[in-house]
Amino acid sequence: MNIDDIKNIAVIGAGNMGHQIAMLCAIHGYKTVCTDINPDILKKAENFADTYLAGRVEKGRLTQDQATAARERIAFTGSMEEAVKDADYVIEAVLEILDLKRKIFADLDRMAPAHAILATNSSAIISSKIADATDRSEKVLNVHFFNPALVMKLVEVVQGPHVSDETREISMALCEKLEKVPVHLKKEVDGFLLNRIFAAITREALWLLEMGVASMEDIDKAQVYGAGHPMGTFRLMDLTGIDLTYIMGMEAFRETGDVRHLPSPSVVEKYCKGDYGQKTGKGWYDYTKK
Ligand SMILES: NC(=O)c1ccc[n+]([C@@H]2O[C@H](COP(=O)([O-])OP(=O)(O)OC[C@H]3O[C@@H](n4cnc5c(N)ncnc54)[C@H](O)[C@@H]3O)[C@@H](O)[C@H]2O)c1
Repeated sequence: MNIDDIKNIAVIGAGNMGHQIAMLCAIHGYKTVCTDINPDILKKAENFADTYLAGRVEKGRLTQDQATAARERIAFTGSMEEAVKDADYVIEAVLEILDLKRKIFADLDRMAPAHAILATNSSAIISSKIADATDRSEKVLNVHFFNPALVMKLVEVVQGPHVSDETREISMALCEKLEKVPVHLKKEVDGFLLNRIFAAITREALWLLEMGVASMEDIDKAQVYGAGHPMGTFRLMDLTGIDLTYIMGMEAFRETGDVRHLPSPSVVEKYCKGDYGQKTGKGWYDYTKK
């Protein structure tokens, strides 16, 4: 099989990531079926397809004909069986729960054509924990899009030991067809590439603060004005949520036993106080004042 054999794509889960991944595939010429068990989410995804495409036409990014063709290529159904019956490539984007993903992959293995590649968009669950729920582990891999999937260019394609070169090559080529920038991870590693790099930067920024080397404002300034980051670590943590930093750190520690993942004392303190960042009005910075 090669990239030209991929014509039909199924996206499982129409939440934050799934509805945008499905739209992306349809815009780039793939016949796409998107499914979700929640009818409200599915309806929302369908409405999004209409408003998003209309917006692209308004902004001059797509012609009316291109938008109409993309809309005709995307369908929504509550039946996973229906969604995957003709699929050449399946992208799963359901909740980050291992047992749920294993169940879905076992079902996909029964329902999708034998040649279909089964990709998971999981941020943290490596595909070798899922692949053995199927009889086609060489076709099961992580293809990790970033949020929002219609905008962010990077996709991490992770080749665990069970993944064939053909599966990886087709997946990388598909990302390029979708005008993304795929990177190839030759090994499965917790956090993949970018989240690991961010974790290291976050650890270092917190250490510099906690050791009294510089203020958080100056550490943020160093990242913005010296490294060209759109925002520094502390602003970013406030945006994504200090609760998330805490939970992900604890989870990574539980998973790997590596103490470097443990949340630092100042993160634990903010987490216990409920100062999660922008959503609670206070985190590293104070958002209650103008
Ligand atoms: N949100 C992010 O920033 C982000 C970024 C990259 C990767 N991811 C990964 O993408 C995946 C999805 O994340 P999300 O943020 O889109 O979650 P979400 O909660 O927004 O969407 C998940 C969807 O899956 C649906 N679902 C649950 N069980 C299902 C089933 N059996 N069949 C069909 N649909 C089912 C839910 O109804 C829900 O709509 C996760 O694995 C996550 O780790 C998320």
